[in-house]
Amino acid sequence: MPFDPYRLARPLLFKFQPETAHTLAFAAGKMVQPIPGMMSLMAALCGRPPKHLVKKVCGLTFPSPIGLAAGLDKGAERREVWKAMGFGFVEIGAVTPEPQPGNPKPRLFRLPEEHLILNRMGFNSEGALAVAHRLRQRPSGLTIGGNIGKNKVTPEEKALDDYRAAYRLIAPLVDFMTLNISSPNTPGLRRLQAPEALRPLLNGMLGVRKEMGLEHQPLFVKLAPDLPFDELDAIVDVVVSCGISGIVATNTTLDRGIVSELNRAKVESWGDGGLSGRGLKLKSREVQRRILKRLPKEIAFMACGGISSAEDATLALNDGAALVQIYSSLIFEGPMLIGRINHALAETRSAR
Ligand SMILES: Cc1cc2nc3c(=O)[nH]c(=O)nc-3n(C[C@H](O)[C@H](O)[C@H](O)COP(=O)(O)O)c2cc1C
Repeated sequence: MPFDPYRLARPLLFKFQPETAHTLAFAAGKMVQPIPGMMSLMAALCGRPPKHLVKKVCGLTFPSPIGLAAGLDKGAERREVWKAMGFGFVEIGAVTPEPQPGNPKPRLFRLPEEHLILNRMGFNSEGALAVAHRLRQRPSGLTIGGNIGKNKVTPEEKALDDYRAAYRLIAPLVDFMTLNISSPNTPGLRRLQAPEALRPLLNGMLGVRKEMGLEHQPLFVKLAPDLPFDELDAIVDVVVSCGISGIVATNTTLDRGIVSELNRAKVESWGDGGLSGRGLKLKSREVQRRILKRLPKEIAFMACGGISSAEDATLALNDGAALVQIYSSLIFEGPMLIGRINHALAETRSAR
């Protein structure tokens, strides 16, 4: 196995509170990103995606089917770094129309022994204008999506106005857009998934997309893993009948049952929030398979939730996902994980 510096860095990084560790890692990225040659060195260390992993989805070219899920780069600050790690795409955000601080700290917790994260960040966002400004410059060879949400103070019945406002600023600067209506940390947000709320929201967003002449830009909607299956079926039917380009599933779960009994009391003591990471995999996969059973082939699907290895990614792709997204396992396994997955996927493909 090649030398992996993250094995040395992780014990040190994990001595800090999770949000402090995140800030430190981002600061390190900020330092190295502009140094000439550093991104090429990192790309050489992590491994560039092999050429035959390139995938076309919804008319877009993805250098690898493995992408960085929303939530890690909320402000489009480290795109060069994600590209150098071997990601084929990244979802920037969630971006809210107006800046907001998110929930009070502490709001991020990790359970290393189970590779689990609990977060109640609550859409800390610099706002769409600031993020749009940064998106004006972008690296080539990385497909970029924008993940948008509503401000906390915006009442549910005005949610469409918020999604429209964020869309107007972000959409012209990215390759695809995702409507995040499944974060558990903004009160009432998940209620937008109910078919009677979802249909007007999606139609409204398709309207603004047309108004802006972006009809050909893919628009995705991101769903929670906690929906009863009959409701999930009804949601898929709304997505299909409205003509949205695709679905991303899943977001984090409210279900504490994914934590081992040994650690459940500890996780419960951390309070509210959504869980992600290894333990989410089975739950997410059940939801993904249910969606895929109902979804016509021409509607794209991105699998997310607990994916931490080439085997997990292969299962999702074989289930019918066009693309795969990763967040939590990057925190536990480190940047070289992506290259390992890319190369294992490439090997299984060439062996076919
Ligand atoms: C700290 C944190 C913040 C997140 N923020 C967002 C977000 O802003 N928008 C979103 O759609 N998903 C967000 N997510 C959810 C992830 O994109 C992903 O759906 C979820 O973590 C499951 O994938 P994983 O098990 O690979 O982490 C966040 C997750 C974490 C851990």
